[in-house]
Amino acid sequence: MSNNKFFSCSKIVLTKFFLNSDLIDVYSNNKIMNEKSSNLGEMKMVDASGKLTQAPRVKGLEYAIRDISAEARKLSAQGKDLIWLNIGDPNKYDFETPKNIVDAFVEAARENKSFYSESQGIVSLREAIVEKEKKINGAKNLSIDDIHVTAGISEGIMFLFASLLSPGDEILIPGPAYPSYMAFPKFYDAKSVTYRTVSTDNWQPDEDDIRSKITDKTKAILIINPNNPTGAVYREKELKQIVDIAGEHNLPIIADEIYDRLSFDQKFIGMPSVAKDVPLFMMNGFSKVYLMPGWRVGYCYLQDPDDKLREVYEGIIKLGRLRLCVNTPAQYGCTEALTGPQDHIKETVEKLRKRRDIIYKRLNEIEGISTQKPEAAFYIFPKIENLGKYKNDKEFILALLKEEGVVGVFGSGFDPTYGSGYFRLVFLSQEEIISDAMNRLERFMKKI
Ligand SMILES: Cc1ncc(COP(=O)(O)O)c(C=O)c1O
Repeated sequence: MSNNKFFSCSKIVLTKFFLNSDLIDVYSNNKIMNEKSSNLGEMKMVDASGKLTQAPRVKGLEYAIRDISAEARKLSAQGKDLIWLNIGDPNKYDFETPKNIVDAFVEAARENKSFYSESQGIVSLREAIVEKEKKINGAKNLSIDDIHVTAGISEGIMFLFASLLSPGDEILIPGPAYPSYMAFPKFYDAKSVTYRTVSTDNWQPDEDDIRSKITDKTKAILIINPNNPTGAVYREKELKQIVDIAGEHNLPIIADEIYDRLSFDQKFIGMPSVAKDVPLFMMNGFSKVYLMPGWRVGYCYLQDPDDKLREVYEGIIKLGRLRLCVNTPAQYGCTEALTGPQDHIKETVEKLRKRRDIIYKRLNEIEGISTQKPEAAFYIFPKIENLGKYKNDKEFILALLKEEGVVGVFGSGFDPTYGSGYFRLVFLSQEEIISDAMNRLERFMKKI
């Protein structure tokens, strides 16, 4: 029997948990047969041909970075020579997880530390996180109970927004921003609202714009510092102004500091050191600074002197229990990452600085392109001054991929308002590969 037939003759009834008008609209737009059974609150989710359909909450989800990879892979399969400058994964280039961290992981597995750990994370790792966050980012009064280890920040974002956001809520995020901060609020029927970051001022946040976008639905202000995709490091003055705005409006701040130790020129200032009594929800992880994105370990923590976020945090703990734990041997590896030698960080920053300098110089020499100098991480976010025959940044990036094999990400994928007309490149590649990509971009711009 074909799948189609199977689905059309079987009685597949999925429980519908929400019955709000928006959802019903989405269902009808997608031509789903909305057959209510006699039991109110239940409906079939099959289309006219009897196939199961995607739930509305995942229909609109996008992740521009990986969407471009799918296009690129098709071309690569056809034999096109590509230069991949689209994914912020150091281990896909010439960066390796330090050996002492790998050894600690292997040893933990050998010693049968392969049990389910505490859902919040093993104690030794949480102790090491407390020490790191106090020393590097100025966290105050932190205890291991305030730390939750997650499968990367990505799981932390999922948990946080699940626990914080109700349908209709808004969260203020920088424009442009790392796409998960746009996608997950949508997933929970809430909304991210981007505030302007000012390209001509090294992509610093615009405080007046933040103020003007606060409504009675706003639940939190997010900062990503250092920033992906712009490479900006926020100045102390800007951080303090955001703290003041949050304080005036009784809002918590969410701060993603995953690139905290990859700053080139500007001194990085951790939000906990300037937040006074404003409640903070902090996100961080091991993927970037410790060169181990595939291990999937990150963490979140609270700095919350008046316990204003405690209930939301309890929700995160419940979600953490449902997914049992993060990979246990990997957590032992991460304990070693924080407590062992830190030499690789300086080496990584120096290697990246050289690559940043090359790509920054070359991009500004190409007619029709201009860029700010990234101050941290491994991303550059140039402006397309001359789109030529292309309608927008997405068309531009797809044509650059097809014609010259340079894989970048279109800026509007990081925010349709403040990212539009820009694109993001990753400068993790070796110098000669970056130069090759710049030669190709230059040739492309001459034909535009
Ligand atoms: C700002 C930012 N936050 C979070 C993530 C995802 O981190 P993780 O690997 O810890 O899930 C990324 C990945 O590129 C990022 O750039």
